[in-house]
Amino acid sequence: HGNPGTGAVALGFKAIPPNKLDTFIVPNGYDHHVVARWGDPVLPGAPSFDVRRQSAAAQKKQFGYNNDFVAVLPLDNQRALLVCNHEYTNPELMFPGYDPAVPLTPEQWRITLAAIGMAVVEIERVGRTGQWQLVRDGRRRYNRRVTVSDTRFQLTGPAAGHALLKTKADPSGRVVLGTQANCAGGVTPWGTVLSGEENWNGVFSGGNALPEELKPSYKRYGVETVNAVTPTWATVEERFDLSRHPNEAHRFGYIVEIDPYDPDSTPRKHTALGRLKHEGANVIVAPDKRVAVYTGDDERFDYLYKFVSHRKVSHSRRENLKLLESGDLYVARFEGDGRGRWLPLVKGNRSTVEGMSVEEVLIFTRLAGDKVGATKMDRPEDVEPNPKNGRIYCALTNNDRRGAAGQPGVDPVNPRPVNRHGHILEITEDNNDQTAETFSWTLPILCGDPTQPDTYFMGFDKTKVSPISCPDNVAFDATGNLWIATDGNALGSNDGLFAVPLEGPQKGFLKQFLSVPLGAECCGPFISVDNRSVFTAVQHPGEVTGARVDNPASTWPDGDFAKPGVVVAWRLDGRPVGS
Ligand code: FEO
Ligand code: CA
Ligand code: CA
Ligand code: CA
Repeated sequence: HGNPGTGAVALGFKAIPPNKLDTFIVPNGYDHHVVARWGDPVLPGAPSFDVRRQSAAAQKKQFGYNNDFVAVLPLDNQRALLVCNHEYTNPELMFPGYDPAVPLTPEQWRITLAAIGMAVVEIERVGRTGQWQLVRDGRRRYNRRVTVSDTRFQLTGPAAGHALLKTKADPSGRVVLGTQANCAGGVTPWGTVLSGEENWNGVFSGGNALPEELKPSYKRYGVETVNAVTPTWATVEERFDLSRHPNEAHRFGYIVEIDPYDPDSTPRKHTALGRLKHEGANVIVAPDKRVAVYTGDDERFDYLYKFVSHRKVSHSRRENLKLLESGDLYVARFEGDGRGRWLPLVKGNRSTVEGMSVEEVLIFTRLAGDKVGATKMDRPEDVEPNPKNGRIYCALTNNDRRGAAGQPGVDPVNPRPVNRHGHILEITEDNNDQTAETFSWTLPILCGDPTQPDTYFMGFDKTKVSPISCPDNVAFDATGNLWIATDGNALGSNDGLFAVPLEGPQKGFLKQFLSVPLGAECCGPFISVDNRSVFTAVQHPGEVTGARVDNPASTWPDGDFAKPGVVVAWRLDGRPVGS
């Protein structure tokens, strides 16, 4: 099966066709199984899920809503830890009798807050196959729910303790309650999970009554500062009212690190990686053993960032847990000749941005990027180093305002006006050294309908490739093939997962591997270390205008109403997935 010329496994599976079916579809020769779904028991004493008898107390012990990032960390040959983000909720698809004209009850708000955050659950292999299932007996000592209301986080890095991070509840400016809007993430070489706080701005109210000096920076992050907005989370937790707690939102928008192997550990928010709408973060160990972390800010015309640790990776896990607490922070500028530069924002513990202190750069990182002239991108989503070739791959999901009146026009790295389908960016750091300040770049894939002239698939025959739109999350299999999950397919079919070789004779031969049910976004993906299982998250199935839990657009996965869930797909003959 292997391709001796390149080391990459050839992708021999037969592509599935684009479709709009309300089901999860895998290629011939594969099967799939829902590993965990909304409401599944996570903690001891979790009641069995009953959509008509929900409570916040129950939800805090159950698998949350809208699973996004998925990681699987090994325990032994038969068991592993599934770690996932629960990004947001769909009250209309959760609560029977939901009426958009009637505010949620306080208990319904508490349920939605309890359904957000993260989950760690023990899973076990079924026999010797690539199938995995939840461990349901009493041995689940690693199981954990991280929630908005109950989980304490430690702020680390240069901005921790700064006045802008202090609140009435936390005069130290170092302890934050909860994480929210966690989208994608990454697994570190030392066995922890990173998670990006992305669209955290929408749950705050009272921004119109903020002190004037705080309004411009909040506005830059999408917090409403002019009009009064109807309180949502503030109806049950006052800290989400910025008129009373003006610094609370400065405490969200970070990369979170959680150690799933220590269920009692305090997860951390790393200020050294900056505050943005972090899609996620992925780590690679550079040649000199420092680590580089790549992270994208998912907003139209926002930026791509890189963090380089001061310390080197060591044999001590305890020491490695400190790696993301201090380092240099850069933002990307792309030039027209295929070259680019990482512009420093913080270097050697000094701010390199005029008029901003280190702490201000790390809390108002978008403003720092504005000042140094970073390149305005078409929504940087997942950005991940390929462990096989050391190159960095970024999904630029789309940007319908590129080139619109009053908006930035096309540039070499964002070459299409009204970019509805997005593209993939490849970065090769100079000398393949991920600590470098200069790099080369290419655009290997311009997504869309392959019959259209503005699409490109590394020069491969476009009559053979699958249509793809709105790349969101990326992953690599054990041999370095690129896997791409989509969100919001603008070609009209369901979202899905695609795979494409990056080298060899089939380089650019992109094929659709699976599709998710109606209304869902395909999240994850994660290919197991043994290359036998593909994990994806089905997020917001049935999220269709007008759909309700009592009148669902999707009945996946159980035939009654839609439930987000994590799915494993595997090859029935046990050979490597995709091959
Ligand atoms: Fe939650 Fe950028 O997607
Ligand atoms: Ca995403
Ligand atoms: Ca997305
Ligand atoms: Ca990824």
